[in-house]
Amino acid sequence: MKGLHVIHFYGVGIFGLFVVYLCKIHINSKLDNFYVYVKGKGNIPTSSHTSRSHQTKPVTINDSYVYSWPKCEQNTSAANITDFSSLPGHIQDFLYYRHCRHFPMLLDVPDKCGGASQSAEVFLLLVIKSSPVNYDRREVLRKTWAEEREQNGVWIRRLFISGTMESGKEKQRLNKLLELEHREHNDILQWDFSDSFFNLTLKQILFLEWMERNCPNARFLLNGDDDVFANTDNMIQYLQGLEDNDGSKHLYAGFVFENTAPVRYTLSKYFVPVQVQESESYPPYCGGGGFLLSGYSAMVINNMSQSITLFPIDDVYMGMCLAKAGLGPVSHMGVKTIGLTIHSGNIDEHDPCYYKELLLVHRFFPAHMYLMWHRIHDPSLVCGIRNVIQNKP
Ligand SMILES: *[C@@H]1O[C@H](CO)[C@@H](O)[C@H](O)[C@H]1NC(C)=O
Ligand SMILES: *[C@@H]1O[C@H](CO)[C@@H](O)[C@H](O)[C@H]1NC(C)=O
Ligand SMILES: *[C@@H]1O[C@H](CO)[C@@H](O)[C@H](O)[C@H]1NC(C)=O
Ligand SMILES: *[C@@H]1O[C@H](CO)[C@@H](O)[C@H](O)[C@H]1NC(C)=O
Ligand SMILES: *[C@@H]1O[C@H](CO)[C@@H](O)[C@H](O)[C@H]1NC(C)=O
Repeated sequence: MKGLHVIHFYGVGIFGLFVVYLCKIHINSKLDNFYVYVKGKGNIPTSSHTSRSHQTKPVTINDSYVYSWPKCEQNTSAANITDFSSLPGHIQDFLYYRHCRHFPMLLDVPDKCGGASQSAEVFLLLVIKSSPVNYDRREVLRKTWAEEREQNGVWIRRLFISGTMESGKEKQRLNKLLELEHREHNDILQWDFSDSFFNLTLKQILFLEWMERNCPNARFLLNGDDDVFANTDNMIQYLQGLEDNDGSKHLYAGFVFENTAPVRYTLSKYFVPVQVQESESYPPYCGGGGFLLSGYSAMVINNMSQSITLFPIDDVYMGMCLAKAGLGPVSHMGVKTIGLTIHSGNIDEHDPCYYKELLLVHRFFPAHMYLMWHRIHDPSLVCGIRNVIQNKP
């Protein structure tokens, strides 16, 4: 329900604030009994620049599992659903393809985490949903908060997850663009499905499956959009400060929505008709603009997802998967709603001191992102605000 994340303050339309509340619950489970579900796959290519276009053919027969899934056919019986013909086109489309969970991979980085067995070395994996057209956002993220680096003694790694655009010439052009970026930066996972709003859940579950294969022991993930400002320095500090900071306990932290229900208003972007979900309530979930997950919780979602029908709103679906495992987001007031207090007309909404203290803010234009990242790192910046990211209940 991304539209709800954006809280505009005193009429500054483009500069909505998204403030992260932190929430966590503990359950006693260990990361070391992860089950790596490989579905009959053999060796995966380990070259660091593996993309389909660089390979004349798949390296082993079983790589075709990942790189050339057969086309998933539409379920024509979906048209028998009551009042199907009166539903908006994108919903009809969703229902026709709801059963499709696998698409061929076009770009892959199987060794992003140094191989599955080394993946515990990755402390924070940034998993950023990005449509092929968002070149400028990816470029600025690579230079700012999503830069791969060692921060406070631990590693941050970055992946953009993408589908494809439309069809024909434009699709080819954009695929070529992603391929060029990938060749230079080695940071894109792309699958051959249409990168639409109602396919975001698909993108998420394809990523989780990739993670299970290639990066099962990453400690934490930041999963979010390519237009958020994430203070990854603060995230590392927050995550390192957790009592259990090895990713083996449940953590699902973000802006929590509770007691929400499907939007039944046809013209809304979030419209979900009863033909897609009858129930009048959603489980609690973290807004999809940006949330933190432990490696453990990511694997729980992946496991639960196998038996939960796809639901088009991706952040709600994450909540559904965790709810099935008896888990959810629990508010943890480690972060105050500091941004929300910015409404006394004389405060500058571009003041870096606000962003220095937050974990994540929705939504930023690339130029603002670049500027703000530099301003919060300016050694001469003096801020009087107390540190709000400490993990204190
Ligand atoms: C591919 O996977 C299948 C099913 O797991 C297995 O029987 C077969 O031997 C594998 N082939 C190769 C070439 O690894
Ligand atoms: C549902 O659709 C299929 C394929 O279009 C059709 O063959 C079948 O008769 C329909 N079933 C019902 C119950 O209407
Ligand atoms: C196709 O759609 C019908 C009607 O919604 C549904 O009952 C059936 O399970 C679907 N088939 C698959 C393979 O998902
Ligand atoms: C999701 O992607 C598939 C494959 O490209 C496409 O057939 C389907 O229409 C898309 N669904 C939606 C709701 O956009
Ligand atoms: C996922 O499922 C596998 C197989 O059912 C199980 O062994 C593993 O413990 C599960 N992992 C999590 C994190 O739930």
